[in-house]
Amino acid sequence: MEHKQPELPYAMDALAPAISRETLEYHYGKHHAGYFKKLNEALESAPAAYAKLNLEELVCKVEPQHTGILNNAAQAWNHSFYWDCMTPQPSAEPTGEFLQAIDSAFGSFAALKKSFGDAAKGQFGSGWAWIVCNADGELAVTATSNEGNPLRDGCTPLFVCDVWEHAYYIDYRNDRPAYVDAFFKLANWDFAAEQFAAARAAQAAA
Ligand code: FE2
Repeated sequence: MEHKQPELPYAMDALAPAISRETLEYHYGKHHAGYFKKLNEALESAPAAYAKLNLEELVCKVEPQHTGILNNAAQAWNHSFYWDCMTPQPSAEPTGEFLQAIDSAFGSFAALKKSFGDAAKGQFGSGWAWIVCNADGELAVTATSNEGNPLRDGCTPLFVCDVWEHAYYIDYRNDRPAYVDAFFKLANWDFAAEQFAAARAAQAAA
């Protein structure tokens, strides 16, 4: 199956000034598009079983030795998820059952933001900071290097921040903390809450 890059869920200039049109033109238009192109090229000579898998199934099931497929599939998935974690119409904080789960796991929304911000700012080198729902249905903050994705560890991603330099170098140069603080102002907590509700429903049905 050919994997297609999804549409960006807002206009290229919709997140400015926190994230500029130029950043999205490179990040979405060059980097993310490139991962899909390389993934499709790598799949041409891949084991036949991989041809039937959708992108999420690839991320979960590709053998580690097939690095070209794994790297590009995960980066393709991670970025598609990352775009949805930002919105031009952000809400200040989560509500409902998601907020209750945050309070239960972290003590408060402010504590979650501190933990997530520390993970994003402290990740050494390229990677991603995540809020996940683990196999026990509990919330956790984690970080992964390079193309890492918590799906491969049995966790369900709820929210992510890209901390590769290409995410912020045009707007913030080497100042990753300033980018992470700006990212929070665009956070799509409604999207994260939807992922949480879906994760809980899937666990209840299992
Ligand atoms: Fe990126």
